Amino acid sequence: MAQLIDGRALSKKIQEKITKEVASLKFRPGLAVVLVGEDPASQIYVKSKERACRAVGFYSEKIVLEKNIAQDKLLTVIKKLNKNPKIHGILVQLPLPKHLDEKIVIDNIDPKKDVDVFHPYNVGELCLKKTLPKLDDLLAPCTPKGVMRMLEEYKIDLEGKKAVVLGRSNLIGKPIALMLLAKNATVEICHSRTKNLAKTSAQADILIAAIGKANFVKKTMVKKGAVVIDVGINRSKQGLVGDVDFKEVEKIAGYITPVPGGVGPMTIACLLENTLLLAKK
Ligand code: GUN
Repeated sequence: MAQLIDGRALSKKIQEKITKEVASLKFRPGLAVVLVGEDPASQIYVKSKERACRAVGFYSEKIVLEKNIAQDKLLTVIKKLNKNPKIHGILVQLPLPKHLDEKIVIDNIDPKKDVDVFHPYNVGELCLKKTLPKLDDLLAPCTPKGVMRMLEEYKIDLEGKKAVVLGRSNLIGKPIALMLLAKNATVEICHSRTKNLAKTSAQADILIAAIGKANFVKKTMVKKGAVVIDVGINRSKQGLVGDVDFKEVEKIAGYITPVPGGVGPMTIACLLENTLLLAKK
């Protein structure tokens, strides 16, 4: 049976460390979360981000905008937050309603307040790193950074290992691949057009599933003893399920993350870390 990677416990440990550090600061780090519309999943995520901010002693602002808001009105809100000295991190919850251009919206966030690390300047900075600095000092997208924190906590050796990333999104797949590469893993990215995906997946020492398909990764797609990180959060009749068929895969993996209680809490912990990092800069 695989060893469980406990994201909840690690997230708690990180949040305790942040709480202590915030108490010693002469100012309060501030995060603004912008939510457009009423997407139920986004509402839940935003609520837990707010709750986490309060728990560690951050200043937090939630800005809820109607789903039909014009793009220029949204940009005005962002530009105000860019100038607000109480705010060190700005997060615009994605996905945005279809009439809004996500790229233009993200481009308008001040890169110095880009807590998600989605702005092209910050993505470029991450891409250009040849080695990875200490995670404490690294501004990287929250979920991928959370994954790297888990691998670090469980002392998973990445040097020269074969890492396979399932999914090529800008939010998850691409940045995780960049970070694993900077830790000297040999990285392969698979996606919906990949031929023989199952065969590639079964060669992975480290397998990152970020494709958004419930229970997609079966035991035949996993090498014995592999480290399996499940980034998926899919709503199904059985409740929240990951991209990995946990019951099957836990029997052969070396390490595995559960859903819920794995990567999810780590995203929040790393959002807090990034906010603190930006505030201290
Ligand atoms: N939607 C799903 N995950 C995220 C995230 O990490 N940041 C933002 N802004 N939106 C998301």
